[in-house]
Amino acid sequence: MKVFINKRIPQIGIDILKENNLEIITSENDNPSHEEWLENCKKADIILNVGKNKYDKDFFDNCLNVKAIALFSVGFDQVDIAEATKRKIPVGNTPDVLSRATSDVAFLLMQMVSRKVNYNIEKVKSGNWKDFDALEELGQELYGKTLGILGLGRIGFEMAEKCKSAFGMNIIYHNRNHNEEAEKELNAKYVSFEELVQKSDVISIHANFTLEQADIFNKETFEKMKPNLIFINTARGGFHNEKDLYEALESGKIWGAGLDVTNPEPMESDSPLLQLPNVCILPHIGSATIEARSGMSKLASENVVAFSKGEKMPTIVNP
Ligand code: DGY
Repeated sequence: MKVFINKRIPQIGIDILKENNLEIITSENDNPSHEEWLENCKKADIILNVGKNKYDKDFFDNCLNVKAIALFSVGFDQVDIAEATKRKIPVGNTPDVLSRATSDVAFLLMQMVSRKVNYNIEKVKSGNWKDFDALEELGQELYGKTLGILGLGRIGFEMAEKCKSAFGMNIIYHNRNHNEEAEKELNAKYVSFEELVQKSDVISIHANFTLEQADIFNKETFEKMKPNLIFINTARGGFHNEKDLYEALESGKIWGAGLDVTNPEPMESDSPLLQLPNVCILPHIGSATIEARSGMSKLASENVVAFSKGEKMPTIVNP
């Protein structure tokens, strides 16, 4: 079977595919045009997808040879899962292996925003580090504060665990289902979305993105938040409305924001968010560690191999 890998991945995955005698198709360059990408997809039986290419009805109509998709990501919002399922095309993702790394970034951003790190780095760099000032731009401590998690799955659990053990934070969450493990081990409390918005000191998003959740963090939501609210998004940029977030931050309605995801990505270099001192923005590096990316490479390739042998993918999204 032919496997198209559209961008470079850690060698461990390539080795697994080769050991299993799969034929690998790659792009001529690392940033192929849409046309070149589509031509390669048409030749493939299985796609090992890196990045945010869209797999919708149009794609499947165009690439009738494609029989399976193995995503190099835990998120699968770029795939029309209903359409893939209708066509009996299995879609695999890479859960677990990146939960630590991604929650580390959420935890890092939370602390950066609480202690105004962005503002302070800029102060040093621009030569504005003056005498000690007991009142200048003070941070807020996180001890005993309330962390609100939207989407308490594997990554959310890791984030909640870190916040509880480091800062003794109270955990509240909103999810499709109750997370009994988190309720038992972290004393996490299930709340409505409304309550999460109103009661949290920090909100961290770890849910799978669906179109119904587009812009759920908007003007109306930001208005209901506490003024010391730290907004963390390491999931997908589509969850928040960037203009409304800017206004909430600029007017001081909320304390600050830490974003590892934006909408669009890469973000516009003239985005007004970049001018705000109370925002830390990273270029979607949640899973960017040697360990996580190797794990993703291995898991995505194992999904491909399983499918090629007529077996169920180990981490299938549409069983
Ligand atoms: C994921 O795995 O979903 C990360 O966000 C990378 O896309």
